[in-house]
Amino acid sequence: SAQTARLSISLPDSSHRISRHIYGHFAEHLGRCIYGGFYVGEGNDTIPNTDGVRNDIIDALQELQIPNLRWPGGCFADTYQWKDGIGPKDERPEIVNRWWGGVTEDNSFGTHDFLNLCERLGAEPYLAANVGSGTVADLTDWVQYVNYQVKSPMSDLRIENGRAEPWNVKYWGVGNEMWGCGGNMIPEYYANLYRQYATFMTDWTNSDRLYRIASGANVADYHWTEVMMRDIPHNLLEGVALHSYSFVEWNDKGSASDFDEAQYFSTMQTALRMEELVEKHSAIMDKYDPARRVGLIVDEWGGWYQVEPGTNPGFLYQQNTMRDAMIAATTLNIFNNHSERVRMANLAQTVNVLQAVILTNGKDMILTPTYWIMHLYKAHQDADYLPIELDNLTYGFADEELPAISASASRDSTGTVHVTLANIALSETHTVSLAIDGVDLSRATGTILTSDRVQDHNTFDHPERIVPAAFTGMEDGDGGLQLTIPPFSAVVIEIPGS
Ligand code: AHR
Repeated sequence: SAQTARLSISLPDSSHRISRHIYGHFAEHLGRCIYGGFYVGEGNDTIPNTDGVRNDIIDALQELQIPNLRWPGGCFADTYQWKDGIGPKDERPEIVNRWWGGVTEDNSFGTHDFLNLCERLGAEPYLAANVGSGTVADLTDWVQYVNYQVKSPMSDLRIENGRAEPWNVKYWGVGNEMWGCGGNMIPEYYANLYRQYATFMTDWTNSDRLYRIASGANVADYHWTEVMMRDIPHNLLEGVALHSYSFVEWNDKGSASDFDEAQYFSTMQTALRMEELVEKHSAIMDKYDPARRVGLIVDEWGGWYQVEPGTNPGFLYQQNTMRDAMIAATTLNIFNNHSERVRMANLAQTVNVLQAVILTNGKDMILTPTYWIMHLYKAHQDADYLPIELDNLTYGFADEELPAISASASRDSTGTVHVTLANIALSETHTVSLAIDGVDLSRATGTILTSDRVQDHNTFDHPERIVPAAFTGMEDGDGGLQLTIPPFSAVVIEIPGS
């Protein structure tokens, strides 16, 4: 019928992998992400924890198989003196978190706490270094402290602080938002600074195999990416970052959970713009790096609204609805479909900040719709990318239109194919006719994330209002499997390999 989208997927002989690092997360010293979120303190005997980190959060993130975690910022990173966060906790300096609420930061959660947490999660740490207000020596010391086995002043200090083995941190951000809170720099100046910092992080050959990421563009600042790719020698550069958030209007963000269709539509417009951003930044990178060695690292993305009423405006605490589920579902499909260049991404932020996967309140913890999208999509991690062709339907509002259906597909090492789809339309159920070259779809099963209202969310009183369920809207039809997808819903279809 006229109301059917057609999705065809081919199985090429060879393909690249969708890096699991696209499913990465981000934890900043901001609001209640670390303190009162992840970290409740070693002495806490009311909330079960391991070395001060909540066990329920560790369990939830292990279940998600989070591949990496970025820390300690964000804007906080370019104020962070890492040496303040090592050694006996009662001797650590108390400083002011100047970007985020002006609150006291007692440095009780530091390098050991973070890297041990990553180890427990089975996630690669991604350290964001202080370029804006730090020094080259501070950063080379940090690299030495966390990575050196050989006797050196910093490895000795690490051992003295209780950790014999280095953590071998691979991913390093060289500053954050250098065009803004990282120092308001022009790209040419930062590119020079980057060259200097990157030079002293490792040796001639990068034998330490560090993955150094240049602080990237704000949204559509293509000139920034151009300068990074042009002015930084590629033997010093493994990744270039990009930040882009979704919102109603930057200066009038609106409530996270009480919004109308106009607000929903413009949020989805900004979310879907990620496709154009990724394509245009990639095209610039292709010009300087046709072999696609340097990765595009979208190390901050997600929805950004007003804070919850009565909470500290500097803490960026917001609820998370089916609108956020649609942002996550569509954005992750975009990343999968551009995974030949997008090698890592980090949702902002893991706990209690912006588009969080986890919210906490005292002893309680809830998983948000965004958590469940990440759960539905985890099958794509390190699976082979499958090209899709989509004859789409539209979702119209006022006199504007967006593509209604978003999709991506992969095949894992056992041969199982996973297709993730979202219908972002607010009132229309859509049918998608799915065909996969030479694949028997009769054994397909599905899981859906849906709810009655797009404003629906999980609360501490109703923590399981939105959870995945078996998807039953599937039947054989002409030319493929007919999937009936309700409005603002996401689905994963799994087709076992033969
Ligand atoms: O994620 C919140 C903030 O957004 C980060 O600290 C900063 O990098 C960005 O502007």
